[in-house]
Amino acid sequence: MSESFNAIRITEHVHWVGAIDWPIRDFHGYTTERGSTYNAYLVTGDKNILVDTVKAPFMDEMMARIASVMNPEDIDYIISNHSEMDHTGALPATIAAVKPDKVFASVMGVKALDNHFRIGRKIAAVKDGEQMRLGNHNFTFIETRMLHWPDSMFTYFAADALLFSQDGFGMHLAASARFADEMDECIIFEEAAKYYANIILPYSTFVTNLLKKMAGLNLKIDMIAPDHGPIWRGGMIPKILDRYATWAAQRPTNKAVVVFDTMWHSTEMMARAIAEGIADGGTCVKVMPMAAHHRSDVITELLCAGALVAGSSTLNNAILPKMADVMNYVKGLKPLNLIGQAFGSYGWSGESVPQLANILKEMKVEAIGEPIKVEYVPDADALKKCYDLGRTVAARLAETCKK
Ligand code: FEO
Repeated sequence: MSESFNAIRITEHVHWVGAIDWPIRDFHGYTTERGSTYNAYLVTGDKNILVDTVKAPFMDEMMARIASVMNPEDIDYIISNHSEMDHTGALPATIAAVKPDKVFASVMGVKALDNHFRIGRKIAAVKDGEQMRLGNHNFTFIETRMLHWPDSMFTYFAADALLFSQDGFGMHLAASARFADEMDECIIFEEAAKYYANIILPYSTFVTNLLKKMAGLNLKIDMIAPDHGPIWRGGMIPKILDRYATWAAQRPTNKAVVVFDTMWHSTEMMARAIAEGIADGGTCVKVMPMAAHHRSDVITELLCAGALVAGSSTLNNAILPKMADVMNYVKGLKPLNLIGQAFGSYGWSGESVPQLANILKEMKVEAIGEPIKVEYVPDADALKKCYDLGRTVAARLAETCKK
């Protein structure tokens, strides 16, 4: 095992010692079609410091990579930037194996680690902005509360101008390359957007504030090393920072997403008519039948959209299960500044449309026109109504995007 996994040097004093999870396809409800990585970093110097660990089953891989550089027992300190188990699952066993002098976490991190693992030893709390000299190296801790957990923090390593950013600027992407500039840029930003939409989106206000705070700190940053996916350096750094600023702002774009599920194709016919109206109105439209799409891809499409039009047939006095699932998920991720409407067909009771309209209202989606309900199968008049709804949505988005 130890000879199969090697550390990868990323700067003068830092090695990547993480793990690659090639097969993972479901990350608590988020599809990870390209796998993931759990990045841990080893800072070497007068004192040796491990920054974050890995998911529990990958402990041996991390330890083998560390052992390719040094005896793991020579690690003096561990910094835990984030308490979620994909980065701390291996922490208790690592502490037991390495016996570090100290383990550092944010104030909230200390509580979270205790609640997770009852490690049975003191974890040292560091404060926002606190600077610390560990051996011959200086570190600054930057609290990033709610990005995306209360315990989250960044650690800045001055000697190599490197920011350890835990989940921030991360993505689920397994690869043999370690740097973003060594990979296909289209894939990098597609996965970064998916990660933002599925993990970071509800905390966008915190992102905007953090970007301002980071600019104010005026740190020299040559590298951003997240806990998932590739490491950012050079010209890739401003690109990911710009994307984060854009995604956090959630300005509506001239794009609509039509999400629906259907029993006997009536709601599908309505969705298609709405989409035709949107497209004829000059707006880009993404049609997402839930029989063919996953909830995590719907929120990714909504990240850069201006409208959400949602449709469902009525089944057992309710929304179809796949629509209930996606609407519950999307609502929780709190996309902002959307317009939209509900539609669907029914047989005799027809609750799905008002239920969908109510969810859209709870999401603060601005209603365009009225919900459209069709009994059994839409006729030409009903389909014209759907088409007209699409045109209205497109006209409104075009107007908004001009401003
Ligand atoms: Fe990658 Fe929030 O853990």
